[in-house]
Amino acid sequence: MSTSNTEAQRRREAVHTAQQELQNLYFGGVALYSKETIQLIINRLAQYLLNQPLNSIPIPDIRGNETEVVVFPTYMCQLGGPGNWRKAEADIIFYSIQELLEDTRHRDASSVYQSISVGYPDAKPCNEYGELQQYETLPVDDLDTLLETHRGVWEESEEFWQLKDIITSQPALAKVDKIVAFACGSLMDPSAAIDPDHMVQHAMLFSMRTFINEMKEELPSSAGEEVKIILQEPAYTDEDKVVLARAGATIVESPRAFLDVDERTLVVSISPNIPVRQIVADIARPAGMIYYNDKNEWVHWPNGVMPSLSTDPWSPRVAKMLERYAEIELPYPRRTRKIVLWARQPAAAAGGGL
Ligand SMILES: C[S@@+](CC[C@H](N)C(=O)[O-])C[C@H]1O[C@@H](n2cnc3c(N)ncnc32)[C@H](O)[C@@H]1O
Repeated sequence: MSTSNTEAQRRREAVHTAQQELQNLYFGGVALYSKETIQLIINRLAQYLLNQPLNSIPIPDIRGNETEVVVFPTYMCQLGGPGNWRKAEADIIFYSIQELLEDTRHRDASSVYQSISVGYPDAKPCNEYGELQQYETLPVDDLDTLLETHRGVWEESEEFWQLKDIITSQPALAKVDKIVAFACGSLMDPSAAIDPDHMVQHAMLFSMRTFINEMKEELPSSAGEEVKIILQEPAYTDEDKVVLARAGATIVESPRAFLDVDERTLVVSISPNIPVRQIVADIARPAGMIYYNDKNEWVHWPNGVMPSLSTDPWSPRVAKMLERYAEIELPYPRRTRKIVLWARQPAAAAGGGL
């Protein structure tokens, strides 16, 4: 056996041993994510971006050990063939328990314990000089009018009234003071086409804010309190941000919205590209969560040949948390998304996560 083969074999064994230990830690109740670690890595990334030429960031793992991760402010590569350039900026990434336990190819033993790290999650098409591809956009006022139109159509739909009945039948939701929504998508896709699902998901957020505000009026202890909407979606364009802010939402950079999730939050996240369900299960016990109704850990492509990991997988810990929540199917226009509300039941402990 050549030296490099022996080296590769040793590396695989070390990764495998680390994965077994991680599994024990996970089932022993050790948190993969915490607000403190998220905040710490936000601070360290910001400091790194200010203080070039640092070339690494100390990343804490779930055991409390720190490892230096080599980082470049931006990264370019050719995807799937010459000329197909992509560029990404260094940003915070989250790994699900499945990714940490099942990926042996892209990890060394220390990164098995790093459920939060810094990498390049959002590569965008660019030319060979790193200039990002420019897309057509709609002027802000036109986009605003379009969102209003979609909100109007939604508010006249049968599903709007069904959603109202469901939300108002959950008295615990009257205590919600903020809706924190992840990954609702840009209102406009790169070809300047309007995405009806993204429009409707935002329209639903604004309606739920109204329903909960109305519930508060009946509750003397919440009189005068207004529900906030906090949005985290890296795909928002500048125009999206203006239009959504005009509608009264606050847009935050990833991953700051996680810091806002607490027991008075309604989390909304329909098929995000990050493991929102697992992160939330570790950091809080929100009053409610609206998620894709999918308990799979894997995505099975239509031809069934290449199952791949779901980006927001179900997990034993998510399942355990939801034992204290009621599961209620939600209506979605044209039934194109299967979504569900998880409403915290009175016996469930509010406050922290694990
Ligand atoms: C499969 S799309 C789902 C979009 C929309 N919710 C829907 O149902 O059509 C996944 C979305 O996750 C978003 N996303 C990726 N990273 C994210 C992050 N760190 N925080 C919030 N959203 C993120 C992507 O930009 C993308 O819009």
